[in-house]
Amino acid sequence: MAQNKLSSEEIFALEDKYGCRNYAPLQVALTRGEGAFVWDVEGRRYYDFLSAYSAVNQGHCHPRIIKALNEQANKLTLVSRAFYSDQLGKYEKFMTQLLGYDRLLPMNTGVEGGESACKIARKWGYEVKKIPQNQAKIIFAEGNFWGRTLAAVSSSSDPTCSDGFGPYMPCFELIPYNDIPALEKALQDPNVAAFMVEPIQGEAGVVIPDTGYLQKVRALCTKYNVLWIADEVQTGLGRTGKLLAVEHEGVKPDILILGKALSGGVLPVSAVLANNNVMDVIKPGTHGSTYGGNPLACAVATEAIKVLLEEKLIENAARLEAVFRAELEKIPKSKVNVVRGRGLMFAIVIDDSIPAYEVCKRLRDAGLITKPTHGQTIRLAPPLVITEQQIREGASIIQKVLEDFKK
Ligand SMILES: Cc1ncc(COP(=O)(O)O)c(C=O)c1O
Repeated sequence: MAQNKLSSEEIFALEDKYGCRNYAPLQVALTRGEGAFVWDVEGRRYYDFLSAYSAVNQGHCHPRIIKALNEQANKLTLVSRAFYSDQLGKYEKFMTQLLGYDRLLPMNTGVEGGESACKIARKWGYEVKKIPQNQAKIIFAEGNFWGRTLAAVSSSSDPTCSDGFGPYMPCFELIPYNDIPALEKALQDPNVAAFMVEPIQGEAGVVIPDTGYLQKVRALCTKYNVLWIADEVQTGLGRTGKLLAVEHEGVKPDILILGKALSGGVLPVSAVLANNNVMDVIKPGTHGSTYGGNPLACAVATEAIKVLLEEKLIENAARLEAVFRAELEKIPKSKVNVVRGRGLMFAIVIDDSIPAYEVCKRLRDAGLITKPTHGQTIRLAPPLVITEQQIREGASIIQKVLEDFKK
C-alpha cells in the first residue's frame, strides 16, 4: 500500500518532535533536486543558492555521479581498510596526480579531514621538527569554521560553537585572520607545528583576505618550518572559479583538506593530501576510519571530479562571477551594504534595518533558498552548473525581494 505523502507542515512537526534541535532550518521541506533546483513536497520549485554549503557544486543528483554511485553500489560498497579494494588506489592516483601531492589520506566528513590534518601536523612536529613531546602547537585564525568535533570547537572563536563543551584542546592558539604580523609573531615560537586556515572564510561570511595574504602565509610557514594546512573543504573544487582557492595566489599548502563537493553532494567524502615528508609520519595503525576510502566513495568522488573538469564547471564559476556581482550591485546600498565574493561563493550584507532571516523567508516564498551565515550576512552559492540566464533570474529574485522591503 502506498504511504500517504507528508505535507511540509507535517515534516516540520516530525523533526521538531523527534529530532535533536541542533539546527533551526528554514521552513522548506524538500523532496527532489536536479541541477540548480530543488522541489518541496507540495511541488514548488526553488533555486538552491546554498548548495548544501558548497557540497553540491556539480548540481543536485548529477546523472553521471548517480550512475557511478549505482554501478559501484551494485558491485561492492565497503571492505574497510583491512583489505584492498580495486577502487582506492586508482582514486588515490587520480587525485594525487591532479593536485600535485605524493599521497592522499581518505576520510569521510570535512571535520575528520581537519582532525586528521591536525594529527599529522602534531606527529610531524615531534618526529621531524623535534618539538618536545606534548608541546606541539597549532595556530588557527579567528572566525574559522571547520566542524563540530571537540578539536574543531576548541579552535573556534564563536561562543555558540564552543560554550559548554570544554575542556578544550590544549596548545591551540588563535590569531586574527588576514593579519600577517600576528602570524609572524606566532610562528616564532619553536613549538608551533602548523597554521591551519581557510583561503576564504566561508561560515564567517565569505571573508576574503587581502591579495597576497596566502603568498605571505606560504613564505612565513616556510621560513619558520611550520606546516601550512589549507582547509579547502568549502572553497575547494571549483567554488571560487579555480580548482583550489589557493591557486588564485599560485601557492601550495603543505597539507590540503578537501570535502563537501568531493562527492558532488552524494556521500560524505573527505581527503587530506600531503607529500611524503609529511604524510609518512602516519604508519599502519596510527590513524584510520572504517568507511574512509570505501569503494563506493572512491567511485563517486572520481566521477564527481571528472564532472567538474570535463563539464568545465570551474570555468563557469569564474565566468559567472562578474555577471552575478554586477546584478547584486544593482541593489541599492540602503538595502545591501556589501557585496563580496569570488567565483560563485558570494555573500551580501543586509542593512541593519532589514532582518536577514526575514529576507531568507521572503526569498523562499519567491522561489530561492539560502540562509544567513552570521548576523546580517547571507551566503549566495548556487551550484556551479547554473547557467547565465539562471543566475540572472536568481539575482532578479533577490533584487525584487529586497526592493519590496519598505524602509
Ligand atoms: C571550511 C570548512 N571546513 C570544514 C567543514 C566541516 O565539514 P563537515 O560538516 O563535512 O564535517 C566545513 C563545514 O561547513 C567548512 O566550511
